[in-house]
Amino acid sequence: MEQQINQPTPENIMQTGTGYWSSKILLAAVNFQLFTMLAEQKAMTAKEIKSQLGLNSSDRNVYDFLDTLAGFGFLKRDGLLETAVYSNGLDTDFFLDKKKPTYIGGMLEMLNNRLYGFWGNLEEGLRTGLPQNEAKNGKNIFETLYADADKLKEFIHAMSGVQMGAFMAFAQKFDFSNSKTLVDIGGSAGLLSLMVAKHHAHMDCTSWDLPPVGPIANESIGQSPFQDRVRTADGDFFAHPFPKADIVSMGNILHDWDEDTKLMLMQKAYDALPSGGSFVAIESVIDGDRKDNVFGMMMSVNMLIETGTGFDYTFNDFNSWAKTVGFKSTSLLPLAGPTSAAIAYK
Ligand SMILES: C[S@@+](CC[C@H](N)C(=O)[O-])C[C@H]1O[C@@H](n2cnc3c(N)ncnc32)[C@H](O)[C@@H]1O
Repeated sequence: MEQQINQPTPENIMQTGTGYWSSKILLAAVNFQLFTMLAEQKAMTAKEIKSQLGLNSSDRNVYDFLDTLAGFGFLKRDGLLETAVYSNGLDTDFFLDKKKPTYIGGMLEMLNNRLYGFWGNLEEGLRTGLPQNEAKNGKNIFETLYADADKLKEFIHAMSGVQMGAFMAFAQKFDFSNSKTLVDIGGSAGLLSLMVAKHHAHMDCTSWDLPPVGPIANESIGQSPFQDRVRTADGDFFAHPFPKADIVSMGNILHDWDEDTKLMLMQKAYDALPSGGSFVAIESVIDGDRKDNVFGMMMSVNMLIETGTGFDYTFNDFNSWAKTVGFKSTSLLPLAGPTSAAIAYK
């Protein structure tokens, strides 16, 4: 058969163009806590789901919603329409049941409640270069978010959802044998410190963040068996030096800021390390050709929406900043999906 190469096809265009339909269907299901309910009830008919969730749309609308989720593999379905019984898919049962410690829906909740609307203003962001979130009026995103306890909690749990897989991989792949202490700058809920403590009994970890974040991290640390080796500390990286440690880590911190601030943060990490110590940035490091890590580039666009001046970067960018600061060498450790650890050695 003659090969049809280089023939234009509309599929990619239409799939991407309607991408927000699929995204919104999943986000709505998370917002309704559908997967948490199904994890508890095991299996439910559409009518039962409709009644439990208090949906007043037609039965047909509910079938469409649930069957789309089944089509994506997020739900399992036995039977059809009136006779159908729905239960969780493998992934949703593990990652989207709010009652399990493996819940990553925090990020999806934030995508639904904050970013879905803000991304609606992408064109304005691109035209003006200004953030399109709560900080639209020239304020610092963190100050604005942290003035509202509920938004702060949602944001902190969202961060854990994004980085769960990467932190698990980092704790297992990085060589901790020559280190005893780690300080995680902007450590949020303390997830990275907890993962490292879990896999390395000799490691002592500090999750360092702005004062309002400490109580939220202490809640997660308090529920873990690692309270003797994981602690929180308050600090503001614009005002304070970093605590000394053998490893200074930053998960999704550098990408929040412009280049001068990135350099300032790397300099503070350098100053906190002993000779031979490592600085580790865990982010969606973009590939040098800027072709493959499309998620990393979208994350960088998300930084326009969130901070205006922040951006994600390539390993080459990281190397040149590390050199400017005075680090001896660097390496790149792929972690999970689009995320890698960019490492600089003092
Ligand atoms: C994008 S989140 C990343 C959280 C986490 N490291 C991760 O990888 O998911 C940025 C973190 O930086 C913290 N942060 C923002 N400004 C800070 C400052 N001035 N000093 C210390 N931490 C700050 C925030 O509170 C938040 O936890």
